[in-house]
Amino acid sequence: MSEQKARILTGDTPTGRLHLGHWVGSLENRLRLQDEYECYFLIANMHAFTTRADRPEEIRASTIEIVKDWLAAGIDPERSTIVLQTEVPAIAELTWYLAMLLPFNRVMRNPTLKSEIEDKGLGETYSFGFPLYAVGQCADILAFRPALVPVGEDQLAHIEPCREVARRFNQIYCGVDPHTEDADYVKAGGLFPIPEAKVGRVGRLPGVDGRKMSKSLNNAIYLSDTAKEIKKKVGSITTGRQQMTDPGDTSNLLFDYVRAFIPDAERVAELERRYAAGDNIGDGHVKAEVAEAIDALVAPMRERRAAFEGPEAEKRIVEIIMDGTARANRVAEATLAEAKAAMRIDFGGRELTFRR
Ligand code: TRP
Repeated sequence: MSEQKARILTGDTPTGRLHLGHWVGSLENRLRLQDEYECYFLIANMHAFTTRADRPEEIRASTIEIVKDWLAAGIDPERSTIVLQTEVPAIAELTWYLAMLLPFNRVMRNPTLKSEIEDKGLGETYSFGFPLYAVGQCADILAFRPALVPVGEDQLAHIEPCREVARRFNQIYCGVDPHTEDADYVKAGGLFPIPEAKVGRVGRLPGVDGRKMSKSLNNAIYLSDTAKEIKKKVGSITTGRQQMTDPGDTSNLLFDYVRAFIPDAERVAELERRYAAGDNIGDGHVKAEVAEAIDALVAPMRERRAAFEGPEAEKRIVEIIMDGTARANRVAEATLAEAKAAMRIDFGGRELTFRR
């Protein structure tokens, strides 16, 4: 009998195509861990509605595009489970119960939530549902009782409250001693393991203008960009350096990209040395190498993605989504049933019928 693998849960909000920030922050780890863990990858489409409730067509299109990006990157639906958030009712229910265990002010202090309010110019006008997504994200995770949550650095502020709420649930409803070590909660009778975040090899990749990489700032390089687009975007990086004999500063944005995408460590060291010394190496040359390295990374994805264009392919994508989601519901329903039992609201079982 094969030993039960530990689980991974992570996901993306379908608000646009995936970019290099997603790749280095989380996607790369997902691919690497696909065999070692039982993986659940969530399309957080309900979360997309929290800031764009008036754009359902766009969210629907992005839902399909995200899955194309995943498949193109190498997520294998035979090995990993793709989950559509809006078809997992247990997540929405769990959100309610967990919301009662998180102080309102604790949710609102979340720095990721705060910077989103600022970056997106939400001002005072954001919906009630917007901050609720932070509680929803705890439910996304805990519904699957994962050991590990691979995310970019910006998501750490969401994982911490998830760990807090898991501890609290275990203490209040499962009678676990609050002094228990995080790793021992399940052994001590808790329902939820305290999940750990796993940040990628580059926690935060800036966009080509040095600000946070984001679709809305128009500074992102997408996994589906053409070689020409990549060249143009990398070319737009400015360093302020004038001549190829000027000593350069290798802590600049361009070298963030060098270190993130040129795979040959010796070549990186050589570029750093020559750039710092002003040893006849222009920014243009470095940019060309960076663009080439990025293109080498995404070219196979672009190719695989091409196989998923057209209406027939879209049908196949929807099938993949629903196959995964049916499987995911079995896991999430089991968690919810146990959570309700722990909360003494187990007045009778239920079975979801998944029409396929
Ligand atoms: N908030 C995440 C993002 O925008 C997406 C997400 C939703 C997520 N639920 C999750 C990530 C659960 C990890 C775990 O990138």
